[in-house]
Amino acid sequence: MQLNGQTALVTGAASGIGEATAERLAAAGAHVVVTDVDTTGGEETVDRIEADDGDATFHELDVRDREAFISVVQAVDEEHGLDVLVNNAGVGHSPKPVEDLPPAERDFVFDVNISGVWNGCAAALPAMKARGSGAIVNVASLAGVIGSPNLGAYSLSKGAVVNFTRTVAVEAGPAGVRANAVCPGFVEGGLGEQFFDSFDDPEAARERSRRGYALRRLGELDEIADAIAFLASDEASFITGESLMVDGGFSIQ
Ligand code: NAI
Repeated sequence: MQLNGQTALVTGAASGIGEATAERLAAAGAHVVVTDVDTTGGEETVDRIEADDGDATFHELDVRDREAFISVVQAVDEEHGLDVLVNNAGVGHSPKPVEDLPPAERDFVFDVNISGVWNGCAAALPAMKARGSGAIVNVASLAGVIGSPNLGAYSLSKGAVVNFTRTVAVEAGPAGVRANAVCPGFVEGGLGEQFFDSFDDPEAARERSRRGYALRRLGELDEIADAIAFLASDEASFITGESLMVDGGFSIQ
C-alpha cells in the first residue's frame, strides 16, 4: 500500500489503534495529521513517526467540537490537501445492562462515537467532494454488528457508525469520495484492554473471550491498522460503503 504524497488525518491517534494507524499510514508515505484530546500522547506519536523517518504533525482536537474539527480540516486542506480521514476516536463505558447504565454515561459515548464521526465527515466532505477524491475510514466495532451484553450504548453507537458509513458512501460516491468502516474484534490494547481490566480476573476474561474467535486469539493493534490503511489506499479504489470485519472469525460463527 502506497500513500506517497497524500495527507491523512487520524482522530484519537495518541494511543491504541489510532496511534498504530498513524504510524502505518506514515510508513506508507503519507503526511499524517495526528489529532487527539491527549496532547502529550499525540506529540509522542509524532515523535515516534519522525524517529522512523515519517512525516507527521499534531493538532489538539476534541471530535465532539464541530467548529474545531472544521477549522483543523480547513487548515490541513489549505496547506496539504486532505486525502484521507480516519475517524478513530472512541470511548467505551462501564459494563452494565441497558437499564443500569446512567444516561449521562450513555450520552457521553454517543457524543464521542456518533457525533465525533459525524463531525469528521461533515468537516472533510466539502473539500474532498470539491477535489473529486478522498477516502474516509470510520472505526466501528464487532460490537456494532452483533449483540454485545452490557455494552448497550457502545454497541448502539458502533451500529450507527456502520450504517452512517453506507449513507456517506452513497452521498459522496458520485463525487469520487469513498467511505468505509472497519469492525475490529477485541484487540490486545486500547479499549479492549480496559474492558478486560474491569473484570475481577482479567486474564480469565481474556481467555473466555479468545475461545469465541475462530483464530483463538485477540487481535493486534497493527492488524487493525493494516485493514484501515488498505481501505484508505487506492488498492481499495472500488470498495465503498463496506464494513470490514477484522475480528479473527468471531462474527462468521
Ligand atoms: P484508546 O483508548 O487506546 O484510544 C482512543 C483514543 O481516542 C485516545 O487516545 C483518546 O484520548 C482519544 N479520544 C477519546 N475521546 C476523544 C475525543 N472526544 N476527541 C478526540 N480524541 C478522543 O482505544 P482504542 O481501543 O485504540 O480505540 C480506538 C477505536 O477503536 C475506538 O473507536 C474504539 O471504539 C475502536 N475499537 C477498539 C477495540 C479494542 O479492542 N481496542 C475493538 C473494536 C473497536
